Amino acid sequence: MQQKIIILDFGSQTTQLIGRRVRELNTFCEIFPYNKFPHDDPSVIGVILSGSPYSVYDKEAFRVDLSHIRGRYPILGICYGAQFMSHVYGGKVEPAGSREYGRANLTEFDSTNPLFQGFTSNSQVWMSHGDTITALPEGFKVIASTAKVKNAAYQAPHDEPLWGVQFHPEVFHSVQGSQLLKNFVVGICGSRQDWSPANFIEETVKEIRSQVGDDQVILGLSGGVDSSVCAVLLSKAIGKRLTCIFVDHGMLRKNEFRDVMRDYECLGLNVIGVDASAKFFADLKGVVDPEQKRKIIGRDFVEVFNAEAAKITNAKWLAQGTIYPDRIESLNITGKVIKSHHNVGGLPKGMSLQLCEPIRWLFKDEVRRVGRQLGMPERLITRHPFPGPGLAVRILGDITPEKVRILQDADDIYIQALRDYKVKVSGEEARKVLAAGVPAHMENDEMEVSLYDCIWQAGTILLSTVRSVGVMGDERTYEHPVALRAVTSTDAMTADWAHLPYDFMAKVSNDIINKVKGVNRICYDISSKPPSTIEWE
Ligand code: XMP
Repeated sequence: MQQKIIILDFGSQTTQLIGRRVRELNTFCEIFPYNKFPHDDPSVIGVILSGSPYSVYDKEAFRVDLSHIRGRYPILGICYGAQFMSHVYGGKVEPAGSREYGRANLTEFDSTNPLFQGFTSNSQVWMSHGDTITALPEGFKVIASTAKVKNAAYQAPHDEPLWGVQFHPEVFHSVQGSQLLKNFVVGICGSRQDWSPANFIEETVKEIRSQVGDDQVILGLSGGVDSSVCAVLLSKAIGKRLTCIFVDHGMLRKNEFRDVMRDYECLGLNVIGVDASAKFFADLKGVVDPEQKRKIIGRDFVEVFNAEAAKITNAKWLAQGTIYPDRIESLNITGKVIKSHHNVGGLPKGMSLQLCEPIRWLFKDEVRRVGRQLGMPERLITRHPFPGPGLAVRILGDITPEKVRILQDADDIYIQALRDYKVKVSGEEARKVLAAGVPAHMENDEMEVSLYDCIWQAGTILLSTVRSVGVMGDERTYEHPVALRAVTSTDAMTADWAHLPYDFMAKVSNDIINKVKGVNRICYDISSKPPSTIEWE
């Protein structure tokens, strides 16, 4: 049976990160809302309580009865999780004199405690809390302190496997945080550390076979990594009983339809490629409103997809590349949907299909690792996210095939340049790149990667409602500007504009203006999300 760690989410921004860290220990974990513990699950080996934006004294603070958890599983409370346990078991939590935020050092720690096994003296940790535990519950012992925080870590009496830490071991700045989590997950909870891409593939192939039996399955491919990995996994499980549908709406990147179809065919997938660009261009003619564009594309997409799917007469399942963060983001801990999904846009009419979501447990970097293990080409695996409506939401004003051609050419130059430009990264930046699933190697604490791999997403926007004057040779030009966008992010919910090197931008600007007819000016978008969004429309 697959062992698992349960993370109870009290609303902290770092809950997902805790999950990632546990997975990095080759241990499966699941994040549950704080009040939804899976009591009947026999595979649970330990429980982590996350941080929270609340103080234990807030009226709205999340509270939970731990009586069925304590004593059954080892527990580790992080920040609010530690304060909450201290509070309910009779300790005292009070507002800290000043908010404690940032780096601190564990000036003292009990190196014999199982939580601190293997700790060396460099014990910098990351603090982020407004409250502090001023008195521990009866019999609880303090096992680490910082200069400002006496009860930085504690354990329940009689060596009971219940710990609390007021710092955040999951963040990069907690130098030995991974060691602490390893001590808990492996040393204390007894994880076998057998959650790996190979293992996942083996288990999932079995699961798919038993789920779908001899039925036919259909899947909408987008060219992105999630749907592609999902398809390869299904194809490994059920072969040609999987039919994939890849719709070209005419607003993909330059040559993308051709290249991706070729990749899919090389991977042995049973793919129907549908060139529906004429229909999309006809229906979008003269439309300038961004929401209307999106609605038309969404509607046309469903129509085209459904028409193709209806030809597969005995399909019983619709497979989707939903991944774990999609599911966590979809439900906040009050149970409200905060982001709805738009993978294929609706089930084919007249067909009652069941959903099959084989990669629903994976984080993005794990999807990439699984893809690599499945032998998929690197260009499919490390591809940036791309919006479903494609370049349509990157052309301001109405859409014509000519404008799409201009934008495809500019975009192609930009993306290729990002792939070609190499940079050296170290420290946290390097860790982020690795965490995104890029297969780079550190040497002397540094590694060389492409700019493309350092950013979350990049693209070009054609400001086709704007014209400006330029001069080329002796000729006056009066053409459109193109904006370049590149952002860093971990989940697209927030994003920062990427600080691209000036020499890189100078070269790209020059190349686009010289090579792409119809463009005579380049701007760089320096807005972050929020308040701006990643896409312009
Ligand atoms: P925004 O513009 O909302 O984008 O900051 C956040 C992320 O979502 C992508 N995006 C989409 N993806 N269908 C998709 O599959 C869509 O309609 C869509 N709109 C935006 C966007 O590229 C970014 O990664």
